[in-house]
Amino acid sequence: MKKTIVNLCRLLLGVVFILSGFVKAVDPLGTLYKMQDYLLAMHLGKWLPDMALLAFAVGLAALEFCLGIFLLFAIRRRATSRVIAVILSIMTPLTLWLALANPISDCGCFGDALVLTNWQTFWKNIILLAAAITVVKWPLEMFRFVSKSNQWIVINYSMLFILVISGWSLYDRPQFDFRPYQEGTDLRKGWTQMMEGNESPYADFFIEKADDGEDITEQVLNNEGYTFLLVAPWLEKADDSQLDLINQIYEYAKDNGYLFYGLTASGETGINRWRDITGAEYPFCLTDGTTLKTIIRSNPGLLLLKDGTVIRKWSHNRLPNEYDLTSPLDELEIGQAPDNTTTRHIVEVMLWFVLPLAILSVTDRLWMWTKWIRKQHNSNCIYKKETKMRKKIVAGNWKMNMNLQDGVALAKELNETLKAEKPNCGVVICTPFIHLASIAQFLDQNIIGLGAENCADKEKGAFTGEVSAEMVKSTGAQYVILGHSERREYYKETPEILKEKVLLAQKNDLKVIFCIGESLEEREAGKQNEVVKAELEGSVFNLSEEDFRKIVIAYEPIWAIGTGKTATAEQAEEIHAYIRSIIAEKYGQAVADDTTILYGGSCKASNAPELFAKPDIDGGLIGGASLKAADFKGIIDAFK
Ligand code: 13P
Repeated sequence: MKKTIVNLCRLLLGVVFILSGFVKAVDPLGTLYKMQDYLLAMHLGKWLPDMALLAFAVGLAALEFCLGIFLLFAIRRRATSRVIAVILSIMTPLTLWLALANPISDCGCFGDALVLTNWQTFWKNIILLAAAITVVKWPLEMFRFVSKSNQWIVINYSMLFILVISGWSLYDRPQFDFRPYQEGTDLRKGWTQMMEGNESPYADFFIEKADDGEDITEQVLNNEGYTFLLVAPWLEKADDSQLDLINQIYEYAKDNGYLFYGLTASGETGINRWRDITGAEYPFCLTDGTTLKTIIRSNPGLLLLKDGTVIRKWSHNRLPNEYDLTSPLDELEIGQAPDNTTTRHIVEVMLWFVLPLAILSVTDRLWMWTKWIRKQHNSNCIYKKETKMRKKIVAGNWKMNMNLQDGVALAKELNETLKAEKPNCGVVICTPFIHLASIAQFLDQNIIGLGAENCADKEKGAFTGEVSAEMVKSTGAQYVILGHSERREYYKETPEILKEKVLLAQKNDLKVIFCIGESLEEREAGKQNEVVKAELEGSVFNLSEEDFRKIVIAYEPIWAIGTGKTATAEQAEEIHAYIRSIIAEKYGQAVADDTTILYGGSCKASNAPELFAKPDIDGGLIGGASLKAADFKGIIDAFK
C-alpha cells in the first residue's frame, strides 16, 4: 500500500515537472515575458537585465524538466525528492499570494499550454506539496527503471535534450505553438467573432497605418491571396542581421503583387531609425505590443497569411531566401498551409527522447534480469552440490572505532576494492550509527550490505540517546547486529530486551545478525551448548518460521573475542553443528539447512580458510580485522 502511494505520488510529480519544464523550454521568451510581468507586479521593474532573465528562464525550464525525469527514473531518490519539496514549499505560499492579491491573472506554470486560474494553481500546488512530502518521507520505496550504474546516461541525456530544445526554440521559434496565432489559424473567423461581441483572443488585434492612423485590419484580413507581415514588437531592439533578406522578401512580394506590412508597437522614432538602418521601403503599421509578442516569438519575425489564415511563421534566423522563393507562392510548398506540425514535433520528441530512454530502460531491466537468473542458476548449482541454500557471509563489526571521516574512507576503499574484484560471498559492514547515512550514499549495496551494531528496544519517543530500528532503516542500512556479548555484558541487555529489538528490527525490514556465545567459565564448566540454546530460546525462537528464516546467527565465544584466542576449527564446527541441530528441532531440518551461522572471535585472514571450510561454518563476524580494508579483504578471500 505504502509503495503504491509513494509511486503514484512520484508519477504525478514527475509528469507535472516534466510537462512544466518542457513547455517552458519550448518557449523561453514566453517565460521571460512572464517573469517580466512578475517583476512589474512586485514593483521590481527593470531590476534584472533581459539576458539574465532569459538565462534564468532556460535554467528554470531545465531544472524542472530534469527533476521530473530524475523522479520518474528514481535517480538520487532522496536528493531529488527533497529539492522538489523545497521548491514546492516556496511556490505554494507564493501562489497563495497570487490567488489573494491577483496581480497577474495566469501564473504561467505551464506556459501557454495550460492556463490555470490563480486559485486552481494554488490548489494544484497543495496537492503536489502533499505528494512531495510523501516521497520525501519514503524515498526508497520508489522503484527503479534504470539501475544505479546506468543512471548517468539518463542524467546527461535529459540535460542535453532540454538545453538543445531551449536553444533551438530561441534560435528558431517555439517548436510547439500553444498561442492563438499558430499556423492554420483563420484570423477572419476570430475577427468576425470579436466584432459580433463574442469573447475572442483576437480582441487586441488591430492594424493601424503608422502615418495616418487608418485602421486597415479588415482590409488586411479580407485580402484574397497572400500577405506578408513583418512582426517587430520593438524596432529599437529588433535584430537587424537579416535586413537584406527582409528587403529581398519585400521586393519578391511587390513583384508578385502580395501585400507586405511591417507591424510594430514602436513609435515614429523607432520606425524612422529602422528605415535608416535597413533601407526598408515597406509600409509600417501599429499594433498592440503584447499581441505582437504573442503572434511570434522573434523580433523581428515574419508571418504569411493566405486569405486571412496564418499559413507560415518564420523567425529572423530562418527566413525564406532566394532558393525558397523561386516562383509565385501558390506554386511553392511554403505557399500552402503545412501539414500538422504539432504531430510531427510530437513524433520527433518521441524518437529523440522517449524512445532512447525507453530502449535504455528495457535493456537495463533485461540485463538485471539475466544477472538475477544467472545468480539463481549459480545458487541452484551450489544447492545441488552441497544440498543447502544458505548464504556465505563475511560481516565486519567496527564496534566503537573510526571517526566519521576515517570510517567513510574505509568504506570507500572497501567499496572500490570489492567492485573491482567481486567477492564470492555476501559481505556486510556494520558501523556505528553516525556513519550509516554517509556510507549508504555511495556504497554499492549489491556487493556490500550495510548494517548498524544495535538498535533500540522501543519504537520511538522520549528515550534520549537511543536510535530506533526505523531510524537505522531510514539511513539506507539493511542489517543490524543484535545480542552482541558486549551489549549483553556492559549494557545489561537481557533476552527479553533483545526479543523486543529483534521484533522491531524485523518490523522495519532489517536483517538481524543475532549473536550468541558462552563465556570462558561457562565453557570450562562444559555449559556452552546449554548457554547458546537458552540465548536462542530467549530471543529468537518465538519467531515464526518465515521470520526466523530472515535471521543470521553469529556464534561468538566470549573468550575468543578480541583476545587473540580463536576457537579451533573443530571446536567451532562442533558447536555450529549443535546450533544447527537445535534449529532443526525447533523449525525443521530444511530451515536449519538454510540458516547462515557465522563464527566470530579473533577471526583473521590466516585462520579464516580453515574455519570457513567446515561444513557448518558459513562465514565470519569480524571485529578487529574488519578495520583495515586489506585485512578484511584477506578474510573475504577465504571463500575464493
Ligand atoms: P574480534 O574479531 O576483534 O575478536 O571481534 C569479534 C567480534 O566481537 C565481532 O562481533
